[in-house]
Amino acid sequence: MGRTVQDELEQIRSKGLFRSTRLIQGRQSARVTMEGRQLLLLCSNNYLGLADHPALIDASVRACQSFGASSGASRLVSGTMEPHEMLETAVAAFKGTESALAFNSGYAANTGIIQALVGRGDVIFCDRLNHASIIDGALLSGARLVRYPHNDAVALAGLMEKQRGTGRCLIVSDGVFSMDGDLAPLAELAELRRRHDALLMVDDAHGCGVLGEQGRGSAELLGVLSHIDIHVGTFGKALGSFGAYAALSRELRDLLVNRARSFIFSTSLPPAVLAASTAALELVQTAEGDKLRKRLCDNTSLFRGLLRDAGFSLGEGNTQIVPILTGGAEETMDFSRQLLEEGVFVQGIRPPTVPAGACRLRCTVMATHSTQDLTWAAERITHIGRRLGVV
Ligand SMILES: Cc1ncc(COP(=O)(O)O)c(C=O)c1O
Repeated sequence: MGRTVQDELEQIRSKGLFRSTRLIQGRQSARVTMEGRQLLLLCSNNYLGLADHPALIDASVRACQSFGASSGASRLVSGTMEPHEMLETAVAAFKGTESALAFNSGYAANTGIIQALVGRGDVIFCDRLNHASIIDGALLSGARLVRYPHNDAVALAGLMEKQRGTGRCLIVSDGVFSMDGDLAPLAELAELRRRHDALLMVDDAHGCGVLGEQGRGSAELLGVLSHIDIHVGTFGKALGSFGAYAALSRELRDLLVNRARSFIFSTSLPPAVLAASTAALELVQTAEGDKLRKRLCDNTSLFRGLLRDAGFSLGEGNTQIVPILTGGAEETMDFSRQLLEEGVFVQGIRPPTVPAGACRLRCTVMATHSTQDLTWAAERITHIGRRLGVV
């Protein structure tokens, strides 16, 4: 007899890895309500606070009234509507590329794009800490997957020399690593792209809207916007909406339209979501966007400084993703539970999202947090961290 579902669940529980969803009542803001209690939200990717911004809500409502609730079909059937085209035009202008293509989510973008670009006989070089959706795309593609040590461009260079083949060669990296908050060495990756005539794909899910003077992301910050072949980003994080994009050449877009299965075989994004994403892209390029980025940056410095001074180990990053490294799964979840009791909502991150022994509280700072919110949260984190022996 095969293993039962009950046995499998018991096994997950026994390792301290059982997960479940948590219900947020009302809107996603800097403070949220859970089980009737007001909590400070410190684990959302709504970095700029756009998820309940009136400009996005208005655009969404108007699009729903004008275009209806659904696209009714996949893009290549009859599901390409004006809001799709408007968003793709806006993305291409934002990233400075010839064209862009919308995907239903970042997960769908990464799996679809990689599987469309490479296959048997090709090779894909992938940072060890890349997001699961990139790994899944690489596995789906059938290309040879070579994983290089995190952010180690020297090791990557060596591997690329060794693995030279006749097929297509793709380098893929997160722009900002989702669980560590550090940046990829994009200039070095761009140089390897040039040297090996490879394609470079950067998933900037956590940098888009936030990093760079105009919020164009990690590639803008590092001055390599034009050296990346496929810019991927999501609308569900700093941009406060839902879905994802690839910004790229017209030729590559044509290839994805013809080959990316997650694009071809799925009903396209609905008008309301597309309009919210377009409104968010407009907003991040205004003076208000500049102000929100500045506020996020100040908030991040304050929060990181307070935790560092308290003695916490925060890894290598410098962004709004602030991991507090805790070690084991049980103590991490205990830390998270105790914080919740005090009114701070931070999720504990465990395997398989991070490697065993590298559990963490993944704190995320928002532009809409007040100085008082962050000072208070850092104080509660320090208090409990000391009690648990983390610091
Ligand atoms: C780096 C990265 N890429 C892709 C995704 C997936 O994006 P989405 O939530 O839009 O599916 C995430 C997180 O969700 C992410 O952190």
